[in-house]
Formats: sequence, structure tokens, C-alpha cells
Amino acid sequence: MPDELPAPNIENFSRNGFVGPNTTIIRAQYRPRFLHARGEYVPRRFHPWELSGSAFADRLALPVAILEGDGISIEFNRRSAAQDYGYANVLADELHYIISGRGILDTEVGTLEVRAGDFVLLPRAVTYRWGEIAEEITELIVVTRSQLRIDPEGAPATLNVDLHVDRPVPHGRPGEPVDGEYEIVVRHGKQFTSYFYDVDPIPCLDAIGAPLVQRLNIEHVNGLGAEKGGLPPARLFGSTNDVDFIYCTSSRRSDRPPVHHNADFDEVICYAEGPSPWGAIDTAGTITWTPKGLLHQGPEEDIAPGRYRSWLVETRADLTMTPAGREISHLMETDQYGIHPSELGAAQA
Ligand SMILES: [Fe+2]
Repeated sequence: MPDELPAPNIENFSRNGFVGPNTTIIRAQYRPRFLHARGEYVPRRFHPWELSGSAFADRLALPVAILEGDGISIEFNRRSAAQDYGYANVLADELHYIISGRGILDTEVGTLEVRAGDFVLLPRAVTYRWGEIAEEITELIVVTRSQLRIDPEGAPATLNVDLHVDRPVPHGRPGEPVDGEYEIVVRHGKQFTSYFYDVDPIPCLDAIGAPLVQRLNIEHVNGLGAEKGGLPPARLFGSTNDVDFIYCTSSRRSDRPPVHHNADFDEVICYAEGPSPWGAIDTAGTITWTPKGLLHQGPEEDIAPGRYRSWLVETRADLTMTPAGREISHLMETDQYGIHPSELGAAQA
């Protein structure tokens, strides 16, 4: 009897984020498990909880960038007290995702009571501040030069925009002045300019017309596909020029992704909440980064009867780690997205 042939491994080579030409390659060998790597272009996982508290100790401490590229950065923020200054990013849109905590976000078009699982889309030039913190906020912020918009694929089945997207409630709550002056920090790229006022610029009486700031909670995004082999991740946000996309990748009835090259997009995934793990990831706020073109598979997403929630940023920009990102990063294997054995081996040696 001849030896039985191993089950073939199916690889997908995709252009334009699976929308362009796709090539299926069949091999005997399973390739995502590299032994070790030398150089900088490697997949990583980030543990934001390992960021030192001193990064946020200063009164004017701002979010810390972990990854950045031309026109985009991925930033982490931790906030345990209200801000006594406002903030406006005039050159980039900001999509905030609340990993944990509760608080009140005052914006120049009203107030939002924010909780874990919320996405808050703050377009460029909108002034805001954290008005009250009920429970320490940790959040991930996607900062993009491209204009972001809520653009749910498959709505209303995936997300009922009429029911589950809301906007701030107009308010007149004053902030806390410092020495009788109200400060607004304007961010322009990597620089900051402060303006000072004798009146609080943020409260408003009403806001009419197109929604400016919008919010949805990840619990209202439905996994697609009732049967095994169901549909792929649901797009939630798109951008001008189709540069950046945000997808909901939570657990769902689907086949495990094939081994694949996403040749034109970097992939950044935020594991948002359990209770079940996703592959080797079980801590809310864990971020994975697979630079474009690197072969990977990623864990099974159909984990029924368990459940987890996660979301994905796809960007055409070429991301690199910042120094702060490097501090909290670990080499990642691309099968289950665990810390790579070569790093674990080095730690134990
Ligand atoms: Fe992927």
C-alpha cells in the first residue's frame, strides 16, 4: 500500500482585498508556520495594557500611536479623569472604539454617554472632550486622512442604521476652566496649537441637518450567515478613495479563512470582547497586525456555541510600528495568532 497523500492545503492569493483577481494555489505543505524571521517586516501582536501608566500621566497627555503609515495611524488611549481642555483634529477623521469603561463625551454638537463596544465617528475639525469618566476608558482610535463614513454592507441585516446609529444630544454643559480660561488643543498632523477663550466653546443649544458625530455599538452588528459556510466579514465603515475600510469580523458561521495573501492591504484586527477566545487571543484590546502580502491564515471564526467580537482595519497604507508600539509588541505566528514560538523560546532561554 502506498503512503496516503496528505490533505492538500488551499492558498488564496488576492488582489484588491479579495475584490480583485483571486488565484487559488494548492500545495501539499502548510506554509504559514515560519521558524523565525530576521528583519522588520513581520506580523505582530500588540498588548496595549503593557503601556506604562506614565504615558498618560500628564494633564495634556494625548493618545499614543502604535502603528502609522501615510494618511493613517492606529492609536491607543487611556483616560481615568475628565479633560479640562477640548481637542480638535483638523487634518484627520477619528474613529474611536471603546474597549472598556464608561464616560460622557462632550462634543461641539452634543453629548454622548459612551460605553464599551461603542464606535464613535468624529469627523475632522469637531471639537470634543471627555466630560466625565464613570469607569476608566480604554479606547483604540483609527485616525485617517481619508474621510470615513458609516457604510454597512448588507444593511439592514448586518446593521440597522435607523435603529442603531445615533448622534449626540445637544447640551449646554460647561467644562472646567483653568485659571479662568478654556483651552482647545488643535492637532494638525503631529503638531499642536492651543487656543484660549473666556467662554467655553464646546456647549451647543441645538444641531440641525446632516449628522456630524455618529455612534453605534458592536453588539448591534450581526454576524452574517446562519449556516456553515456563511458569508465573509461585514464592512461597517468605508472611506473616500477606498483607502481604508473597517469590517466586523466577530465570530460567525463561516468556513475558516484559507491560507492567504492580502496583497494590497495591511490588516489590523482588534479583539474586542469574549467570552470565548479567538484562536490564541483572549484579552480584550489585543491588536494583531499582518503587513500586506505576508502569508497568513488566522484562527477559526466559527466557534459556536461560543462567541467573541472583533473588528478589522484594512488599509492600503504601508504601516510601520512606532517606538511605543514596539514596546508592547510581540512577534506573531500566523496560524492561531499566538506569540511566535521563537520569541517564547528566547524568553525562556
Ligand atoms: Fe487576512
